[in-house]
Amino acid sequence: MVGLGPAGPRWLTPEARAELAEADHLVGYETYLARVTPRPGQQLHSSDNRVEAQRARLALDLAAGGARVAVVSSGDPGIFAMAAAVLEVAEADRDGVEVRVVPGLSAMQAAAARVGAPLGHDFCVLSLSDQLKPWEVIERRLEAAGAADLVLALYNPASRTRKEQLERARGAAGPPRPRHAGRRGSGGGRRG
Ligand SMILES: C[S@@+](CC[C@H](N)C(=O)[O-])C[C@H]1O[C@@H](n2cnc3c(N)ncnc32)[C@H](O)[C@@H]1O
Repeated sequence: MVGLGPAGPRWLTPEARAELAEADHLVGYETYLARVTPRPGQQLHSSDNRVEAQRARLALDLAAGGARVAVVSSGDPGIFAMAAAVLEVAEADRDGVEVRVVPGLSAMQAAAARVGAPLGHDFCVLSLSDQLKPWEVIERRLEAAGAADLVLALYNPASRTRKEQLERARGAAGPPRPRHAGRRGSGGGRRG
């Protein structure tokens, strides 16, 4: 699993760049794969954002057949991204495949750097997406983070179909404090 960073080649680590170059197959959500320039001979397998387990199985099947496979994620693959899905499928039924996580710079780090050092002390990272967990769970976590006086980094604050979560989150986390919105956190790259 290879993290592409929040946007563009300047945010790609040398290790991630080397892994991408060595892969026989590149697997990922189409928006992220579009950020990779394949070398001749590499095969691309792009898919819709919602088919994580299917994508993980495809990658592991290719790897089980002896190929070197890079599953790409934006930012860091271990943060609201593909690494968990791939490791879950690998643990369940693809025992012999070697899986490695190649970290990337996460969007919260890029956004934080833009405004100074808001994550310099204790902080908490939450996703506001209620696609995989009920909103009540998110709300409870926001309240707990607010009560613990933690700085909050929020991922997936809104989407085309989810508009109201950010406002609800502001209510749940407690009285308003200075906050910073990371939009295109790294200067011109796509979100996601
Ligand atoms: C599926 S999560 C992926 C997070 C990613 N693995 C990471 O470590 O940054 C997608 C969410 O990350 C955030 N995101 C990703 N890239 C971003 C960027 N360049 N600027 C601001 N937010 C970004 C947005 O909240 C977006 O909805």
